[in-house]
Parts: sequence; C-alpha cells; structure tokens
Amino acid sequence: MKKILVTGGAGYIGSHTCVELLDSGYEVVIVDDLSNSELEPMKRIKALTGKSLSFHQVNILDKDALNAVFEKEGNIDAVIHFAALKAVGESVEQPLRYYHNNITGSLTLFEVMQDHAVSKIVFSSSATVYGDPETIPLTEKAPIQATNPYGQTKAMMEQILMDTGETYDWDVIILRYFNPVGAHPSGEIGEDPNYPNNLLPFVSQVAVGLREHVTIFGDDYDTPDGTGVRDYIHVVDLAKAHVKSLEKFATTDQETLVYNIGTGVGYSVKEMVETFREVSGKEIKTVTGPRRSGDIATCIADSSLANTDLKWTAEYDLKAMIESAWNWQSKYPNGYKG
Ligand code: UFG
Repeated sequence: MKKILVTGGAGYIGSHTCVELLDSGYEVVIVDDLSNSELEPMKRIKALTGKSLSFHQVNILDKDALNAVFEKEGNIDAVIHFAALKAVGESVEQPLRYYHNNITGSLTLFEVMQDHAVSKIVFSSSATVYGDPETIPLTEKAPIQATNPYGQTKAMMEQILMDTGETYDWDVIILRYFNPVGAHPSGEIGEDPNYPNNLLPFVSQVAVGLREHVTIFGDDYDTPDGTGVRDYIHVVDLAKAHVKSLEKFATTDQETLVYNIGTGVGYSVKEMVETFREVSGKEIKTVTGPRRSGDIATCIADSSLANTDLKWTAEYDLKAMIESAWNWQSKYPNGYKG
C-alpha cells in the first residue's frame, strides 16, 4: 500500500483529501501544527472511512521534528503539501510572517524530502497566482502576476518546485485551485467557520443566524449583475484531483505538471446568495458595500488540461455544492466546536 504524507491534513481541503486517499486505499500520514485547525476532523476522517491514519502535530518549520516524522514513518511514497497561511488580507498586513511560514516552511519540507529520497509531490497552489486575468477563461499558460504576499508565496513555491524537479529529477504536480466550497456529503467534515475569509462561510453563518447580513463587496464590476464572478469548485471534487495526481505519477516522466482545478463555470455573488436562499429556505439579508481592496471582477478556469491529462472532471454542480455547505453548517453551526 502506498504511503502518502499530507501536510496541513487537518485543514479544510486537507481533511477532505485524506478521506479520498483512505477510500482509494492509500495509507495516510498527517503533519499539521493545528494552528488553524482542530484535532476533531482526525476522529471524523477515521469514522467516515473506517480506516486508521497516523497524525503528527508538527510545524513544517521545525526541521528536526519533520525529520523525525520521515524517519519514524519510513517509506513515504509521495507528499501532498497543503500546510500554509492562506488569508489574502492578513498577508498584506503581515508579509514577513507569510513569507517565513509559507516559503521557509516549504523549503524545510523540501529539504527533508530530499534527505529522505522522497521525490514525488502534489502542491496546493491557487488561481491567485494569475492576479487580475487578461483573458477568461484562464489556461495554465496565462501569465503569473500575483498581487498580494499570499499569492506571491504560492507563485514562489511553484518556481522552487519547478527548479527542484528539474535539477533533482522530482515528479511535481501543481494544482491551481479556483474557489473551493462545500463540505463532505456526510456533513461530518467541512470548512471550520470560526474565522471566515470567504464568501460562502459568511453566507452560511448568516443563514444559520450567527451573523446579521452578508456584505456584497461592490456591485459595480463589469459583470452581468455587477458583482464579482468566481469559479466555485466542490471541495470533494478538488480532493479527488489529488488522488488523480498521485495516479498520474505512475504514467509520466515529466518533472513538473501544472493543472487548473475548477469547473469552467462562473457565478456571481448575487447568484451564490440566491442559490443559498433556495437551498436553505432562509432569508439571508445582504447589504451592498464598497469593493474589497485587491478583488477582481471575474476569475474562471479552463480546466480542460486536467480533464484530459488527469482524467479528472468536476462532478458537483452549484446546487450540490451549496446543499453540502448548508448540510454541514446546519449540523454543526459552530464547526468542530459543535
Ligand atoms: N465577497 C463578498 N462578500 C464577502 C466575501 C466575498 O461580496 O463577505 C465576494 C468577493 O468580492 C468576490 C467573491 O465574493 O467577488 C468571492 O470572494 P472570496 O473571498 O470567497 O474568494 P476570492 O475569489 O477573493 O479568493 C479565493 C481564496 C483565495 C484564492 C482565490 C483564488 O480566498 O485564497 O480564491 O482565486 F487565492
């Protein structure tokens, strides 16, 4: 059985990916410092899959501790690297913290991998590396022009991995996620909504009565209804793209492969809120505010390369995404805290 080390495996995308890995017969080793996550999803992943996993509470900046994990676990076939700070606004306020955590943390991980002859990695990147797109939909060939420190760290980590892959003959797959939403259909794992940064967790919290209204960040964009348009992708579809990436390693000898992971369909903020109203039957008050600094009008993926090359396609439509988000939020209004 192949053993996969998952950094950030307790987090939102990481936890869903661990479920898919275990269901696909992989052995899972999680490394997570729990700085922005809880221990509870570990129990739920085990309950959902009926499988065991190995968990290490380690910060990837701690090289000795990371080395000890690789030594203790032995025979790691590949790494999936999620662990990173991820809030765009916070990255503008605390650039040094973001660069240190994301870049130095990743470099430390890559050095430990090299020391232990682990040479396969799936890297969690983001559509944010494209900045303000010149053409829509975005293909992987679009220019890299991140506009905030968080996005810069993702772009830099991609470059570090491309250079590493080339020189040391690593197999690298970079997945550029568009806007992940939704939760596991069981409603047992999802995005812990205690510290929301993104649209859907805000809408969910309004629907469940934890917040009074959703602020629409600008309705004067050059889009059909004036609000921002994004390519929302179900987190379970996204998780499955990681399993497909591991399968791809067996059939390729290219050092670095890059894929956009989205649906190719865009929805506006107003459409998201309206669909949430329909699904939940809740009122969901909105207030229109000014644009949020750094936001762009439209971001939509061309994921045809992932469709053909990884044999991956998104299966969940918008309604299913929102139904799963609502199922999780209404079951656990305060996330893993109950
Ligand atoms: N929005 C609101 N009100 C809110 C929150 C968001 O109107 O309370 C709007 C935004 O202006 C935008 C849309 O909803 O038009 C989506 O915003 P999100 O914050 O959910 O997502 P972003 O597209 O800004 O960013 C997300 C991730 C980033 C990632 C990027 C990739 O948060 O980490 O997608 O495209 F880099």
